[in-house]
Amino acid sequence: MATKWGICSVGKIANDFMVALATLPPEDHQAVAVAARDLKRAKDFARTHNIPRAYGSYEELAKDPNIDIIHVGVLHTVHRDVVMMFLKNRKNVLCEKPMAMNTAEVKELTAAARKYNVFFMEAVWGRFFPVYEEIRTILSQKGIGDVKVVRAEFGSNQYHVPRAVEKELGGGALLDIGCYCIQFALMVFNGERPESVTAKGFLYETGVDETVTIILQYAGKRQAILTTTMMVAMPNQAAICGSKGMIQVPSCMWCPTSVIINGKETKFPLPPSTKPMNFTNSTGLSYEAEHVRQCLLKGLKESPLMSLADSELLATIMEEVRKQLGVTFPQDRA
Ligand SMILES: NC(=O)c1ccc[n+]([C@@H]2O[C@H](COP(=O)([O-])OP(=O)(O)OC[C@H]3O[C@@H](n4cnc5c(N)ncnc54)[C@H](OP(=O)(O)O)[C@@H]3O)[C@@H](O)[C@H]2O)c1
Repeated sequence: MATKWGICSVGKIANDFMVALATLPPEDHQAVAVAARDLKRAKDFARTHNIPRAYGSYEELAKDPNIDIIHVGVLHTVHRDVVMMFLKNRKNVLCEKPMAMNTAEVKELTAAARKYNVFFMEAVWGRFFPVYEEIRTILSQKGIGDVKVVRAEFGSNQYHVPRAVEKELGGGALLDIGCYCIQFALMVFNGERPESVTAKGFLYETGVDETVTIILQYAGKRQAILTTTMMVAMPNQAAICGSKGMIQVPSCMWCPTSVIINGKETKFPLPPSTKPMNFTNSTGLSYEAEHVRQCLLKGLKESPLMSLADSELLATIMEEVRKQLGVTFPQDRA
């Protein structure tokens, strides 16, 4: 039986998610309903992507009984309220990254997911790419020995995009793209909590972070050095350096299609896209969708590859980084 998806909002990532779903077999994945704050936009989106039901409010989507899981692609400033509404209606949820604005909001959501006993996952889509799968396999086999240093960077010239810079839209490099570097380090170190988090960076004129370098220091003399910026493009690579070798991830480290292990490159081509997309390599969102399907088929309430604890740790580190830089959002409590 196909997994029946509900789509919440008709923004840029929602479009790309639909294009990715269309690369998967229809007997496995079907989008059955979409909701936007405006019915006309929901209907237009439904027409573009062949979705049978369209709603003019998220509440109507939450009440639709014929849905297996909802993809939430609204801005992260409203993730807390929108996702909470779906969880209370006992809907499974795949929520775009970042899961919410700060640790308190993330913990409210993870607690609600546990309470209502529904599947909940932050859409850290790179984790389901074949390259990341390969990395996890090599690491679990100790293929590069003991990992000592991890490096990752994600820089993109996007300070002209309102969502990237405006505080009321949850702007800043960290929440938008820096989260991909942190989650990379967390995956390599298997969800371990770093002993310390050190961040240095600069703020944009709107008060959000524009460039940040983070050092995560782990027990046993291990480090991750992570840089993100919304001011300029960077090589956007990652490296995992171990006592017996090295794994290199060429651009784009957050959604990679090749990996170099001890100098040998392996490529993993993406599914071809059939419709225009807004973001790089978005047909790879299909790996995430299929992972979610497999979790649902097994009756899991969280993903073994991107657990609720992973999201909580990611949020805790991002909040600590913001504290060191002096970035606050209206959602932060005193
Ligand atoms: N996985 C990825 O690769 C990826 C890429 C880009 C973005 N994202 C994440 O996806 C989320 C959306 O990003 P996007 O680029 O798709 O943004 P976007 O195009 O601006 O769309 C955001 C949507 O948020 C909805 N929304 C609900 N309440 C809102 C409010 N009070 N103010 C403004 N918008 C509101 C709107 O939904 P309606 O359609 O109902 O009006 C809008 O379509 C962000 O959390 C972002 O971090 C993930």
